[in-house]
Amino acid sequence: MAAGDYLAAQAKELENSGDKQTQRVIDSAKFLADNLQDAPALVIPCLEGVPPEGTPIGGIAAMMASIFPAVWSFQLALRARGLGSCLTSLHLMNAPLAAEILGIPDNIMQVALLPVAYTKGTDFKKAKRPPASSIIHWNGW
Ligand SMILES: Cc1cc2nc3c(=O)[nH]c(=O)nc-3n(C[C@H](O)[C@H](O)[C@H](O)COP(=O)(O)O)c2cc1C
Repeated sequence: MAAGDYLAAQAKELENSGDKQTQRVIDSAKFLADNLQDAPALVIPCLEGVPPEGTPIGGIAAMMASIFPAVWSFQLALRARGLGSCLTSLHLMNAPLAAEILGIPDNIMQVALLPVAYTKGTDFKKAKRPPASSIIHWNGW
């Protein structure tokens, strides 16, 4: 499935929700999908080892947990040097095709794709987020 089709399906689902912030994120994702090819660098973090079929979800979560701190540190290091990045996972729907194009061996698992570029200026605005209390749970759910 192409990014456009996936995002169109998501947008349709949210059509009547009236959630403006989510709509902004979808618009931003569409813009990124249309312009990704112009980023000067696309970084694909990878793990060595592909979980065998039937691996419990906890095993997959543990593998992801072993790489995302490094991905986040990479993003912070970029930021400190005037570069911006965006964590994406949409291309994973076509990971085998990306592996073929890039010559990524079979025992390597792609986990994300980050376009990287110098930012246009540094006049960033604070993103609107739901209150932390609405997503944090203490000692129970
Ligand atoms: C695991 C993960 C995967 C994501 N995948 C995509 C993606 O494929 N495409 C996309 O446009 N945004 C994706 N995002 C969202 C962007 O990274 C980013 O959070 C979003 O554009 C909103 O920007 P903000 O977090 O600065 O508000 C993903 C975020 C996470 C955490």
